[in-house]
Amino acid sequence: MLDLVGNTPMVKIEDPGINLYAKLEGYNLSGSVKDRAANYIIDNLLMNRVINKDTTIIESSSGNFGIALATYCNRKGLRFICVIDINIQKENECILHHLGAEIVKIDIPDENGGYLMNRLKKVSELKKRIENSYWINQYENVLNWESYYNTLGLEICNQITNIDYIFLGVSSGGTITGVSRRVKEHNPKCKVIAVDTEGSVIFGSPPKTRHISGIGSSIIPINLKSAKIDEIMIVNEEDTINMCRYLLRKYGLLIGGSSGAVYTAVRKYFDIHKTVQNPNVVVVFADRGDRYLNTVYNDEWVQKIRTENSKKIQNNGGSNE
Ligand SMILES: Cc1ncc(COP(=O)(O)O)c(C=O)c1O
Repeated sequence: MLDLVGNTPMVKIEDPGINLYAKLEGYNLSGSVKDRAANYIIDNLLMNRVINKDTTIIESSSGNFGIALATYCNRKGLRFICVIDINIQKENECILHHLGAEIVKIDIPDENGGYLMNRLKKVSELKKRIENSYWINQYENVLNWESYYNTLGLEICNQITNIDYIFLGVSSGGTITGVSRRVKEHNPKCKVIAVDTEGSVIFGSPPKTRHISGIGSSIIPINLKSAKIDEIMIVNEEDTINMCRYLLRKYGLLIGGSSGAVYTAVRKYFDIHKTVQNPNVVVVFADRGDRYLNTVYNDEWVQKIRTENSKKIQNNGGSNE
């Protein structure tokens, strides 16, 4: 069963001017790229006796990482406490519940108006209170990016020789750090393009409410210091939603929000940078679209977001958006 982590398909997407290959990470057991980190980190900690069968694993995550950790903790018989907040997608909470995760839900906003600080406060409280507990801390844990270096990065290099460009979405920074290091070892000239979303502070943009989960962050991940990034592209939510829908209609690829952002970045990048020879371009599509049926693929939700975003533009005189 656990062999269902990794060895995901790489598909060619027809595209004029570039050879575009997409690594479909939604084919992992729990449905996203995060299976790699969760499986690797838990195995590594058990093997090195940092944790044992009685350890309680704790993490703050409302999305794919929580679901992946719940999957692998469950299979290893480990207790898992997932700290979430009231903004969690209903389907994610439902999956976490059925996987047997213990859920602690934060409903009081912090001084920034978000929930992350209070989620992290709760994590430290739980860590202090529960004997033999371990906080995964995906933003700082080196095992996070090491997992991608040893699995996803290696697989990509074995599947495509001569990679000219690779585009990766960023949240905790684990994927891009691990993959960029491995890909540059095999293809020193390859350009690594980090893709982030408007409102995320990772690359120094001003904070703003974000509506699409999986990509972006309201803190700067420590792990990113070890990444090898050549260029950064910030994508807006409107383009992200449109590209998700385009990929479904045109190619039958039902992919998650961050994949729409990554594809938007590719299209914009090669609109500006005209290439003579067809370069080999790799994208990582981090998850499937099933968990976004009530958001990115829901017309009412999209209309609500559009109205919200346009009101903000009017209020700010367009300066911030
Ligand atoms: C859908 C999706 N895309 C991209 C990412 C980015 O991965 P990372 O946290 O390794 O930066 C994540 C992480 O949760 C994700 O869930």
